Amino acid sequence: MRIGTPLSENATKVMLLGSGELGKEVIIALQRLGVEVIAVDRYENAPGHQVAHRSHVIDMTDPSELKNLVLQEQPDIIVPEIEAIATAMLIEIEAEGIARIIPNARAVNLTMNREGIRRLAAEKLGLPTSPYAFASSLEDLKFETERIGYPVFVKPVMSSSGKGQSFVEGPDEIENAWHYAAAGGRVDQGRVIVEGFVDFDYEITLLTVRAKNQAGEIETHFCEPVGHVQVKGDYVESWQPMNMSPIALARSRDIAKSVTEELGGTGIFGVELFVNGNEVRFSEVSPRPHDTGLVTLCTQRQSEFELHARAILGLPVDTEMRETGASAVIYGGMDAQGIAFEALDAALAVPKSDLRLFGKPEAFLKRRMGVALATGADVETARSHARLCASLVKCVKD
Ligand SMILES: Nc1ncnc2c1ncn2[C@@H]1O[C@H](COP(=O)(O)OP(=O)(O)OP(=O)(O)O)[C@@H](O)[C@H]1O
Ligand SMILES: [Mg+2]
Repeated sequence: MRIGTPLSENATKVMLLGSGELGKEVIIALQRLGVEVIAVDRYENAPGHQVAHRSHVIDMTDPSELKNLVLQEQPDIIVPEIEAIATAMLIEIEAEGIARIIPNARAVNLTMNREGIRRLAAEKLGLPTSPYAFASSLEDLKFETERIGYPVFVKPVMSSSGKGQSFVEGPDEIENAWHYAAAGGRVDQGRVIVEGFVDFDYEITLLTVRAKNQAGEIETHFCEPVGHVQVKGDYVESWQPMNMSPIALARSRDIAKSVTEELGGTGIFGVELFVNGNEVRFSEVSPRPHDTGLVTLCTQRQSEFELHARAILGLPVDTEMRETGASAVIYGGMDAQGIAFEALDAALAVPKSDLRLFGKPEAFLKRRMGVALATGADVETARSHARLCASLVKCVKD
């Protein structure tokens, strides 16, 4: 394992596909290790663009635009940060040996579609999940929903952050859910997953890292479980550790190991799990840092972003937790460009708090613009301090 000098002939070059707040932190971690970083997103001045050596704006769902940029930049490693990418082209790029894809092109392709990953987890690996079915017409959807039983979640097979997702309590809501999924999917595939509602006690993200040891073998490492609260499929608060029974924790790790081993490659994975007592169900997995894992910026020796950076470079990782902590999301609260943040002095006067302001050029009412972090003696203290810090930040437009 060697890292060259950035901006020279022997540079180690990493290209981020997607340069939002999660990509920005991965880029900072790579920069600290002397890696040359190329940030790509679909709009100008994305958070990651602002900290990379070079940046590009392209439509990443366009296979030829993507390939042309890769051929032009010749990165050693390509790190997908979002799901909306022409993944078939990543398979071609990997097969032609042009660049390494993190964790690998098959895993990226499988996990961007709920059908691919759900069938793999439930049918191939036999992992417990919610009851589910797929439907390609309103008629099929009605039939499958009756079979599973209300209430259900209806989700486009390709979407993230709760987009196009409905919670359906009875037959009169099903038609709306079908149309909402068609409009909210990343690409209207005309296909949805219908999942039985799991009345979980709590849900976690188990950050799981596959990294090489000194002998060159890939080992699996687990971070302490991250608990979180979701509103309409979007995370608003997270904390670490989530207090779990030893049996539920062991089962969570078994599930995470099984699914990440099947996906393969190196890097961090966010494994989403639903827990009832000692029972654990697999929900989904993303082969990249997870938004709820922003909390690790204040809790771990190496944040999930540093872990990802190290793992993809073939370096050893350390998932040790240092301190109990929490994160709370800061929303734009308005639709406007070039907003400002005020009252930061008051926000940062909250004990053991910290802030990340992402620098997004445009705010939306419900766009994540920053995150408050806080550590504390226990989860409740950390959560209330993170919430307080977030609530004191004022987003304004002059
Ligand atoms: N079958 C289910 N039973 C109970 N709750 C569910 C179910 N499916 C989804 N949810 C709730 O909705 C949230 C978002 O669902 P899911 O993770 O499938 O959507 P997503 O669009 O992929 O979101 P993200 O990209 O933010 O992870 C879950 O974290 C959970 O809180
Ligand atoms: Mg999810």
